Amino acid sequence: MGMGAPGLGSVGHLYVHLPFCAHRCGYCDFVTAVGRLEEHGAYADALLAELERERWRLAPGLETVFVGGGTPTFTEPGALEQVLAALPDAGELTVEANPETVTRELASLLREGGVNRVSLGAQSFRQRLLEVLERVAGPDDVRRAVHNLRDAGFDNISLDLIYGVPGQSAADLEADLADALALEPEHLSCYELEAKPGTRFTHAHGEELARQAEAMEGYAERVVETLTGAGYRWYETANFCRSDRGRDLRAQHNLAIWRGADYLGIGVGAVSTLGTERRRNLPSVARYVAALDGGDAPPREVERLDAPTRAVERLMLGLRLDEPFAVDTAGVEDVVDADALERLTVAGLVVRVGEGVRLTPRGRLLGGAVTAELLA
Ligand SMILES: C[S@@+](CC[C@H](N)C(=O)[O-])C[C@H]1O[C@@H](n2cnc3c(N)ncnc32)[C@H](O)[C@@H]1O
Ligand code: SF4
Repeated sequence: MGMGAPGLGSVGHLYVHLPFCAHRCGYCDFVTAVGRLEEHGAYADALLAELERERWRLAPGLETVFVGGGTPTFTEPGALEQVLAALPDAGELTVEANPETVTRELASLLREGGVNRVSLGAQSFRQRLLEVLERVAGPDDVRRAVHNLRDAGFDNISLDLIYGVPGQSAADLEADLADALALEPEHLSCYELEAKPGTRFTHAHGEELARQAEAMEGYAERVVETLTGAGYRWYETANFCRSDRGRDLRAQHNLAIWRGADYLGIGVGAVSTLGTERRRNLPSVARYVAALDGGDAPPREVERLDAPTRAVERLMLGLRLDEPFAVDTAGVEDVVDADALERLTVAGLVVRVGEGVRLTPRGRLLGGAVTAELLA
């Protein structure tokens, strides 16, 4: 990784944020804006203006583009089409979608817009749990969305699931996994519900969340055992992909970021990591649109990343993967505690692989705690 600002046309990964949602789910902590259909067109114009300002940074053949939200597929169809048409070509173009929005028409719009991967926010197949999460979609909406995407020609579909929802039993979790597997997705992301203090959700479900946390012992292992048992590769802490088709079905965009690649993010709330600079656009849609409309850069925060900070980040992300992380060559030797590495190796949580290290399955289930101990 070079120092200072990366050179002209060197960034291979683009993130595009479309913030609008039909409803704000109580547990959600992402940058979103509810409704505002009349603003979608102006937002799309501003987004493309930001893309033009930043385009010089992008490599001629982009590796990946990820359109996330919010609910990109809730965006007014004309505005969504306009954004897709203006995006540079990329090997992988992913769009996040909410099930109730994926009609046959929407699936075709995505396909014709060059999208080749869809990440669908299923979350659960239990109606009761979907209601706790305040989801608009029911279980049949999820199934219908997958069928509509398949009919439109999509052969790379990912489903997001959330576990640890208040009231979810181990049997509910197994049933959710079975229902997800029945749809034969190429990829699955399974996140433990994160309830941030101070959110509406935590306020409403505080006691149940505490009870749920106690009942959750072993849920992560169940997820891993069930999905690997079904032939999926557990390639990142929360991510699984099919490995039976001779294709690399890992999420290439996220994979690049976990490996420490630079990426450009555009839109409200979007983050960019560009060499020694981390930029974060501010969340206000109105201010974003006004700035770009007036020919200015969007309001943003800029943070300098010194070499140790970047090395720690790379280690924390890299150890989430099932591939070895090159401790001795990636510039992280100064941040890894050699004694801790030895201790964790003896404890069976870390293994040395050639020049690198990776966490054992047990180490990966403990996750952040092991990584924290490794850091000097
Ligand atoms: C950026 S969100 C938006 C996706 C889409 N709008 C949706 O709701 O389906 C991407 C994924 O993050 C996960 N997620 C969001 N909030 C979460 C939370 N508080 N805890 C765990 N996972 C969460 C969900 O699985 C969601 O599908
Ligand atoms: S639909 Fe997705 S992005 Fe929008 S509020 Fe719900 S979880 Fe957040």
